[in-house]
Amino acid sequence: MSNKTDNRVNRYDLVSPMMPCREELLEGIDRLIRTGSYILGNECTVLEKEMAEAVECKDAIGVASGSAALYLALHLSGVGPGVEVITTPYTFVATIEAIIRLGGIPVFVDIRHEDLNIDHELIEQAITPNTKVIMPVHIFGMPCEMDTITAIAEKHGLDIIEDNCQAFGSLYHGKPCGSFSRMSALSFYPTKNLPGIGDGGMVFCKNQDDADLIRKLRGHQAVRINGILRAGWNSRIDEIQSLAIRIRLSRFKDEQADRDRAANIYNNLIPESNRLPVPSKESGNRVTHHQYWVRVDNRDKLAQTLSDANVDFGVYYDPALHQDELSEYCRVAGKMTEAEAAGSQVMAIPIHQALADSDAQRIGELVRDHIENV
Ligand SMILES: Cc1ncc(COP(=O)(O)O)c(C=O)c1O
Repeated sequence: MSNKTDNRVNRYDLVSPMMPCREELLEGIDRLIRTGSYILGNECTVLEKEMAEAVECKDAIGVASGSAALYLALHLSGVGPGVEVITTPYTFVATIEAIIRLGGIPVFVDIRHEDLNIDHELIEQAITPNTKVIMPVHIFGMPCEMDTITAIAEKHGLDIIEDNCQAFGSLYHGKPCGSFSRMSALSFYPTKNLPGIGDGGMVFCKNQDDADLIRKLRGHQAVRINGILRAGWNSRIDEIQSLAIRIRLSRFKDEQADRDRAANIYNNLIPESNRLPVPSKESGNRVTHHQYWVRVDNRDKLAQTLSDANVDFGVYYDPALHQDELSEYCRVAGKMTEAEAAGSQVMAIPIHQALADSDAQRIGELVRDHIENV
């Protein structure tokens, strides 16, 4: 997955950013083997502390994956058969899998044209007596409008659970995404901005009681939720992941700066109406650039141009989830015009720590030329 072996530019580089960490990681793994510490040991304890601080939450609990984090948080908030969770159709399927596996009903509202996030102005009309949770997804690392979403949740007595799987490092009004809700979920999947070397995830909690219960649930202990006894499960993070994530966390600022540099090159070449918006300094918002997306007409043609130039790309989310096979478990609240448009127009171009400036310049020019000539 490195883009150094040939002139191909991959969307992710899973090798180069690990090379400076290699010695520390191998020494750490050797230590773990020598002490027989494999699951829920000191690395996990320290990672949980460091992450709770980074996301400005009361506590953080390491779990098996981002999907497991979503599942456990929704479970604890009382999602079960017939309970509705308002969310976006423009997200990775894991967002709704967690709801559906609990017997809940994902309720879709459309997204905003400008940032592809849930349209907060459409949330209120989707609320019914069965609604319990609003689940915003900071898609591609772009913060959702949390002030309005918080006000709606408070007005209607709903929980918010942020799907923060793509947005570690993003800020909304100066505060970390993932810190705005009762619980939030993060993924350490290797392509994420803060990755492990395998699967891993984390639940972030605003209050200690929730954290204590999630900690029980992830480790086979039953807990009572709304008076009903619920079985625990195996959803633990292992020590090698915790170690690898801690090492990457210590380098996160530098890696973020590298992604920002590549994004700036794209920002200067690609017209604003055809790409992710750049938050103003005054807003206090920051985008972590999990993906750099562009919106184009005739996407197939740009796809061909990029393929011919040996440049990797991704197409998202096509079809959007209200058109996916799991939609039979979902409710669609209103028209999904923007989600459908995004599904047919949006494309992610390479962005990662090791992307050469010259490659970013070349790719940005190809996208710009496509937009000018289409
Ligand atoms: C928005 C979103 N939610 C949930 C997940 C699930 O995370 P994981 O793959 O760690 O289970 C992902 C991961 O790709 C994601 O992008």
